[in-house]
Amino acid sequence: MKIAVASDHAGKELKSYIIDFLNLTNHEILDYGIAADSVGSVDYPDYADIVGSEVASGRVDRGILICGTGIGMCISVNKFPGVRAAQVFDEFTARMSRAHNDANVLCLGARTINHQRAVDFVKIWLTTEFEEGRHRSRLNKISTIEKRLSSLSNANDNHR
Ligand code: RB5
Repeated sequence: MKIAVASDHAGKELKSYIIDFLNLTNHEILDYGIAADSVGSVDYPDYADIVGSEVASGRVDRGILICGTGIGMCISVNKFPGVRAAQVFDEFTARMSRAHNDANVLCLGARTINHQRAVDFVKIWLTTEFEEGRHRSRLNKISTIEKRLSSLSNANDNHR
């Protein structure tokens, strides 16, 4: 799979650790910053924007985003149509985010989990298949909401 990875300043060391692991796999990894030795703070929505664009456009199969809690990245990247991001904090949520939600973006909190556990969650998330069935019709309902909101917003634009 092609996987885009990014973090803010709070997630930069964990991002490097995860990328070192991913580089040992057969996946193609695109690192969208920031460098582990960079100084100063950045804004997580800027990095969610990059990875969200890559996933929503289909240029990559999956995304991994890391900030302090995983929450800001998850809120931001879920604004993209077609993105199903999950903030994962244990083995169960890592598995369920794939099995039931077909999550295509994984959000991790560098200040809430240690590096090795985070890699364990990544492994589970990359190897768990979506279960389809009743879960597919729920995802279809999410797509319906996205389409309705998008047509509402287009209609508002046309009346400006
Ligand atoms: C940065 O201090 C922090 O707010 C950010 O990494 C993230 O946790 C936001 O959700």
